[in-house]
Formats: sequence, structure tokens, C-alpha cells
Amino acid sequence: MCGIVAYIGEKQAYPIIIKGLKRLEYRGYDSAGIALMDNDINIYKCKGKVSDLEKFIGDRNVNGTIGIGHTRWATHGEPNDVNAHPHYSEDGNLVLIHNGIIENYGTLKTELIRLGYHFTSETDTEVLAHLINHIRKRANTDLVEAVRLALNEVSGAYAIVVMEKKQPDVLVAAKKGSPMVIGIGDNEYFVASDASPIIEYTKNVVYLEEEEIAVLDRKKNLRIITIKNKDITPYIQELELNLEAIEKGGFDHFMLKEIFEQPRSILDSMRGRINPEKGIIQMGGILEYLQKIKNAERIIIIGCGTSWHAGLVAEYLIEDLARVPVEVEYASEFRYRNPIINEKDIVIAISQSGETADTLAAIELAKSKGATIFGVCNVAGSSIARATHAGAYTHAGPEIGVASTKAFTAQVTVLTLIALSIAQHKGAITKSRFHQVLHDLSTVPDLIDRVLKTNEQIEYIASMFKDARNFLYLGRGYSFPVALEGALKLKEISYIHAEGYPAAEMKHGPIALIDENMPVVVIATKGASYEKVVSNIQEVKARKGTIIAVVTEGDVQVKEMADYVIEVPEIDDTLIPLISVVPLQLLSYHIAVMRGCNVDQPRNLAKSVTVE
Ligand code: G6P
Repeated sequence: MCGIVAYIGEKQAYPIIIKGLKRLEYRGYDSAGIALMDNDINIYKCKGKVSDLEKFIGDRNVNGTIGIGHTRWATHGEPNDVNAHPHYSEDGNLVLIHNGIIENYGTLKTELIRLGYHFTSETDTEVLAHLINHIRKRANTDLVEAVRLALNEVSGAYAIVVMEKKQPDVLVAAKKGSPMVIGIGDNEYFVASDASPIIEYTKNVVYLEEEEIAVLDRKKNLRIITIKNKDITPYIQELELNLEAIEKGGFDHFMLKEIFEQPRSILDSMRGRINPEKGIIQMGGILEYLQKIKNAERIIIIGCGTSWHAGLVAEYLIEDLARVPVEVEYASEFRYRNPIINEKDIVIAISQSGETADTLAAIELAKSKGATIFGVCNVAGSSIARATHAGAYTHAGPEIGVASTKAFTAQVTVLTLIALSIAQHKGAITKSRFHQVLHDLSTVPDLIDRVLKTNEQIEYIASMFKDARNFLYLGRGYSFPVALEGALKLKEISYIHAEGYPAAEMKHGPIALIDENMPVVVIATKGASYEKVVSNIQEVKARKGTIIAVVTEGDVQVKEMADYVIEVPEIDDTLIPLISVVPLQLLSYHIAVMRGCNVDQPRNLAKSVTVE
């Protein structure tokens, strides 16, 4: 959580940092701040978004060719002006920004208070400002060495950038557990939590590795050392990201743009990997491990939030098509429940951002027990992508809306390819079934195009339910994870309480909630559980609940019972989640817009959850 941006070079730092912070607001947006050096250090920070910070700054002095900026997602201390970053040393010499959590901040703070330091904020970050400055004075070192010594005393996660008056030509950046990328321009350096603030200035970047410190000196080449003082040769990579991909392109919100991008993003996630005519799937990343997967006694899937829902779909797919037992776990539970895991296990870690702290920790745990780990990530070069043994990128392009949409369908697409590959390799699937599912998968982008045409009708349905206080989402089989995902989308962006349930489980509890005020969204597409779901709809209707049904085009039976229907094209059961989730994304989007919610940046949430 939290986004950081810093600049040192020949240009004015302020516009670069502000623009960069806006791009990183998906990481947190409860307060923001900036520090610029112009003889003296000027610090401006306030509660609210980056645009509030701009208003707050107004026409004050924003001169300076070196500066640091931060957009916050509060962990320690409520979102207010004082807790906003940057934080600074008492003598005003040093300022810093931080993304992560300093776990031993309590002990360090007590010690610093004993030494006579005063704290103004409730944050863990302020400890770093005092500690680095204290070491700098006590050991009479330069800034880099003071940062290095301080980082040897802290435990937890950090991506920090430090700037000080005494060395106005240097920025010091360091990372552990939180992402950090450094852009290298002509006589200038950029630092950011991801590449989006950097992309329009340079394509040459270095992803900082764990416990590395970067020294950005205006007059020198980039220097990297570890916190143990080992020199590292910077590995400069070229960015593939383009600017267009991170802009709204005519849509009102990123979320809507990303929903509408799904035909293309799904195509991109399959590109170069399938040949439906010849019945070939080629997943470069997993090829060399196919034998190991073939012999695996089980597959464990880990993820959080929407990625966990994609994992549930994968459980159905892999067990159904490849006949390998699968367990799906919340990464946050898995890592702390002393799981039984060994070297025969295959773990698939799913993550859009590739930075989710719980998923990363769960990977490390499974790795330490000898398991083979595959990553299904969207962000290339992310921490999870680097921590896994092998994997497949989802290639959905940057996802900016905090509520995940196109990343989910890209994850499910890639996981379908993985399931089919395993099935083929194990001989668990007939040739004709393999061909048929693969062929149907290749038609999904066109079918989603058709679903998107129901947008206006969904907008109308949304207008009928925008004031509802609760929603229930029901689905069976492959549609159960979709019900969970539909409910999550609504909760996240409209703040309406919603629950997803396996349709048949309704009678064990949620049915007690049903009355004329309870809208029930049912995924009732043609497939194995159709008749059963029809019965569940009847049970809801008998209790005066309102049914919004997602049905297969041409359906008659459910149409007669439901109050509102949304038609989706017919497709193989295994691929229903890819099609039926789209109307649910649109429904929550329109309801949220009608309720005046901030769709792209819902309250209290963040896109990249780098704290546990
Ligand atoms: C946050 C986001 C969700 C996302 C989850 C897991 O909660 O708001 O949209 O599904 O994290 O993130 P990951 O990047 O690991 O998929």
C-alpha cells in the first residue's frame, strides 16, 4: 500500500512527482504529501487525495529539482495531515517517504524517546526519520551509510526514499518487501512504486531487489549496495509498458474501460499460447515442469480477494478436466496455519499485482518446505513473479481500477489453459473434449463482446436496485465462484452489503433473510446444475424475493420466474465464469456510479496490498 515517487535531475521535480502520485493513487489515497528542496526543504502534506494536496499547495513555492512524494493508505495512525508523509527529522535536515510497515517500531520509538527525540505523528515511519538522523550524527557518517545502518536495525517491510539538506545532490532509496523501481534518464533519476510514473520519461529501469539500497547522485552513475554493504551491478531493463495503457481512453472510469477491454485482454492472455485448429497449447513457463505436475498428488492454489476467486474457478477446472486434487487457500490463512506441505506439492500463486504481502509470504513458506511454485501474475517483474519457480503472465495490461475486472478474466483464462495442459499431458481428457474446450475458449472474446452489448439494459436494472441495502448472489458449480466475485464487486465499490453463496446452501441460512426487499442475483445459465438452480429460484420467489437472473440466450424457464434477466451466450460449462462475471461487473459498476461512489478508488481499499 502507499505510493511513492521521487525525482532528482535537471527538471522541476514538482509536476513530475504530482503526476506520478496521481498514477499511483490506486495504492492508497487517504492523504498525500511532497517535499521539495530549494535551498531549504519545503514540505506540504494534507489529508485527502493528491488533488487536495495540489489545492493545499496553491501558489506556494514548489521550486526544486529534487523531491519526494507520497500517497498514503493508513496503517499506523489515522489519515490526517500530521500522519501524512513525508516525515522529517527534528532538526529539519532529513525527510523521507515510506511504503510498508516497520514492525519493531514500538521498541525503536521507546529507545529514541529515551534519547530525547520527540514524535509528532502516530506513524511507524517517523521512527525511521529520527533513527537515520540519529545514526548520521552519532556515527558521523554520510547519508547512505546512515540509511544502511538504520535498516539493519529495523524489521518489517519498507520502500523508502530519503532526502537531506546536507547532501542536496543525492537521494537514497531502499527496499524490502515493498516494490520499488528506479528510472534512469539523462542526468536524472526517478523512483516509484511501479513504472507508471516513470514511463513517459524513460524506458530504462532497474527493479530494486530485497534489502538493496540505491544511491541516486545527480553527478554520478547509479550505485546499488545491499544493507550488508555488498556492491551490486545494476541490472537495467527496458520497460514494455506504454502510456496509452494507463490512461482512461474516453471512458468515465478506469473500471468501465477495463470491463470493456476484456475481449482484448482475454485474447492477449491467450496470444501465442494456443492453436485451437491443431489442438495445441504452449505455456512456455510451465513446460519444463509438466512432468512434475503430472506426478503431483495435489495442487494447492493460493491468492487473496478476486485472485482467490479465480483460484476457486481453477479448482473446478483442474479437478474436472485434469483429475488432480486441488485445495484453494486464502494466502493469509495458509501462511499462519502450519500447513502440511512437501516437495511433491505444486503451489499455484495467483496475484494481479504480484505484490500482495500475504501471497508472497505464503509462497516463501511453501518454498521453504520444498514445494514447486507457479505464479499467475499480471504485473511483469513483480515480487511474486520473481519469487516463483516458473509461471505464466496474464498479459491483461495495467489494471488501474481498484476493483479487479479484466485481471480476473485473464487469470481464469490462463488457469483454463493450465488445466487443459495438465489434462492433456496426463491423458485425463479425450482428444475431442480437449479440442472442444480449447475451441470454445478461443471464442470467448467474441462472446464477451456480445455480453457488453447488454450494458444499457444492465444500467436500467442497476437503477432499480441502487438503493437496496443488501444483495444475495447465488450460483452452483462453476458459477459459485462467480457469485462470490459478483458480491465482492458490489461490496467493494457501492458499499452495499452483499453475500455470495452456493445456491443450494441458501436454505441453510441466507433464506431467512429473504423478503420483498432482498434482491437475489442468480447465475442460472444452461449447464449441469440448471434444473437445480431453477428450484432454488423458486424457493426465493416463494418468499417474495426479487430475482435478477443471468441466463443463457433463448432461455424460457427462468425468464418466466425472474423479475429481471440478463442474457449471455451459450458456452461450455467450464467457461461460464468468463462470460457470466461480466454482467455482474457492469451491475456493480452502474449501481456504484448511481450512488455517487468513487468507483476507481473505493474508500478504505487499495489495489496493491503490501501489508499483511
Ligand atoms: C486487493 C484488491 C483486490 C485484489 C486483492 C488481491 O484487495 O483490491 O482487487 O483482488 O487485493 O490482489 P492481487 O494483486 O494479489 O491479485
